[in-house]
Amino acid sequence: MSPYAFDNAATQTAGRFSVLESRYDIASRNALERTGIGPGWRCLEIGGGGGSLGDWLGERVGPEGAVTVTDIEPARAASRPWAAHVRLLRHDITRDPLPGDGFDLVHARLVLLHLPERLRVLELLAGALRPGGWLVVEEFDCGWTPVLAAPDDSAALLFERVHGALMTLLEKAGAEPLWGRHVVRAMLRAGLTEVTATTYAEAWPGGGDGIALHHANTEQVAHGLTELGVTADEVDAFLALLADPRFVVNSYPLISALGRRPGEETAR
Ligand SMILES: C[S@@+](CC[C@H](N)C(=O)[O-])C[C@H]1O[C@@H](n2cnc3c(N)ncnc32)[C@H](O)[C@@H]1O
Repeated sequence: MSPYAFDNAATQTAGRFSVLESRYDIASRNALERTGIGPGWRCLEIGGGGGSLGDWLGERVGPEGAVTVTDIEPARAASRPWAAHVRLLRHDITRDPLPGDGFDLVHARLVLLHLPERLRVLELLAGALRPGGWLVVEEFDCGWTPVLAAPDDSAALLFERVHGALMTLLEKAGAEPLWGRHVVRAMLRAGLTEVTATTYAEAWPGGGDGIALHHANTEQVAHGLTELGVTADEVDAFLALLADPRFVVNSYPLISALGRRPGEETAR
């Protein structure tokens, strides 16, 4: 069973998926468009979360195409009305057999970061492509979240302390918070060609949509943070800071990496 730190059954998950969709889908759609995705493509979306990108892939490939969306816990995505050519599967990418092969496009956003077996999984996903097919892996680099404005120095220090503890907690669960900066190298090592990447980031002011990601994540694992020495008062002050418009922090940069399986290039 995956050690994924943010159980989809938790109440905070809706907030997390809502931020990912509202703040990052535009960057992800731009990255996916660069593959040339179009009608008739067969796509695999791993760890689809709330399902917004699986839905979008379904629109782009149309009824003559097919999209498989997986998640270890697909309950959130299941509430979405899915087109007939999009199927949603409960599936653990670290254990279960791949749900098909010869895909034109395989996509995963913010999934491998959480998996200790991320390099093996990346190779597995590359192997699920047809020759000439595209792998798109999008990951955060959680090591670059500078505080851009704060009511005072102690607020910035509080953010660094509590956020640092959250990163330690993720690492203890097997995640690699800096994975985003390693994806291009991993794709090259997996034998993919035409590897390119773009990075998307923005300023997140207190009280805004994006910074709610920190709220959802911190609230969900607050008990684990206290085990790392963060006091309940510090957690409360941190959550209050996230609502303060004088506080502005850089979003997690999302690195969108594309690579192609070598071999014949099938024109579609
Ligand atoms: C941070 S969320 C990202 C969701 C979505 N990809 C997005 O970017 O909006 C990570 C997702 O990966 C799923 N996940 C975690 N471990 C997994 C595994 N071993 N196999 C498949 N999905 C997994 C989680 O259930 C969750 O939905």
